[in-house]
Amino acid sequence: MPRIFSGIQPSGELHIGNYLGAVKNWVALQHQHESFFCIVNYHAITIAFAPDELRRRTRDMAISLLASGLDPARCVVFVQSDVPEHTELAWIFNTITPLGELERQVQFKDKAGRQEQVMAGLLNYPVLQAADILLYLADIVPVGEDQVQHLELSRVVARNWNARFSPDTPFFPEPQAKLTPTRRIAGLDGQAKMSKSIGNTIGLLEPPAVIWDKLRPVVTDPARQRKTDAGDPEKCPVIYPLHKAFSPAETVTQVETNCRGAGWGCIECKKVLHANMEAELVPIQVRAAELHSTPALVDDLLADGGRRARAVARTTIDAVRDRMGLDARSVRAAGVTP
Ligand code: AMP
Ligand code: TRP
Repeated sequence: MPRIFSGIQPSGELHIGNYLGAVKNWVALQHQHESFFCIVNYHAITIAFAPDELRRRTRDMAISLLASGLDPARCVVFVQSDVPEHTELAWIFNTITPLGELERQVQFKDKAGRQEQVMAGLLNYPVLQAADILLYLADIVPVGEDQVQHLELSRVVARNWNARFSPDTPFFPEPQAKLTPTRRIAGLDGQAKMSKSIGNTIGLLEPPAVIWDKLRPVVTDPARQRKTDAGDPEKCPVIYPLHKAFSPAETVTQVETNCRGAGWGCIECKKVLHANMEAELVPIQVRAAELHSTPALVDDLLADGGRRARAVARTTIDAVRDRMGLDARSVRAAGVTP
């Protein structure tokens, strides 16, 4: 059975871009596949961060994921730094990854351009991502569109390692990205992708009144100056895609008809969207508030996830070390269980 792995940075609360582009899909997939979902705090430290804030954001991300419907009885939810095998395998993979493959990563070039000084960890970020995935021998990686290039690199890494250390039967699978129809949600500006670093987000846990204040001024089809002007939903960069994500199919059809026929004004259309968003988000927000009031429970769930992930990770690392001639003599001789 194909195995699923995906990761998300501990950016605090989810925004609806992460939720629609990735997490909602994870919630569905956990019922069909053996799944691992990881809060990647070692990735987060490749750019400027504050330790206390990282700690808080890691827990807040866990709360958002659990509240969105990841169920520890059906999948493994854990924090990357609880499983040291991730960094161990990343080091090994660094030794078989051509520098040129890393230098041409679009996300590296973007992020590097915004840093005063570029650290080696930022360049090696996708190697750690390959390690995350391959440690669990995962075949399928549900992510948003921005991760496709990183996934290509993970396949190069798997291929290179297999060619060198497991040429007869490939040890690592070549993981594939699994995209959703909502693979790229635009931000409130209607141009850039929704992203915390740009500040154009709707937070998953923002109160409905705040969400309404954000939706009301959002640009729609620029040709629609007045309510009586006909519009084109395909030219409405934010509201129409969000209807497709949050509203039932009949409503989406109504939106199309009423936009083209100038039946609804944009504000009416936004009100319908807002009601449907509220219906989906409020139950998530209620669960998140409960989890916020029981931090020890959240920590226990994550610790348990870490233990379950580590058991799988150990098996992979033992096989990798064995095939590479890296036997763990001192640890075993001292009787220390890893
Ligand atoms: P990040 O917050 O960058 O760790 O992203 C977590 C997941 O959300 C990844 O699978 C991304 O591809 C996805 N994602 C982030 N922003 C968006 C967006 N605006 N639209 C769709 N998916 C997104
Ligand atoms: N780079 C991913 C992002 O920014 C996060 C990530 C890290 C990831 N490791 C992963 C995603 C492994 C999928 C699989 O969204």
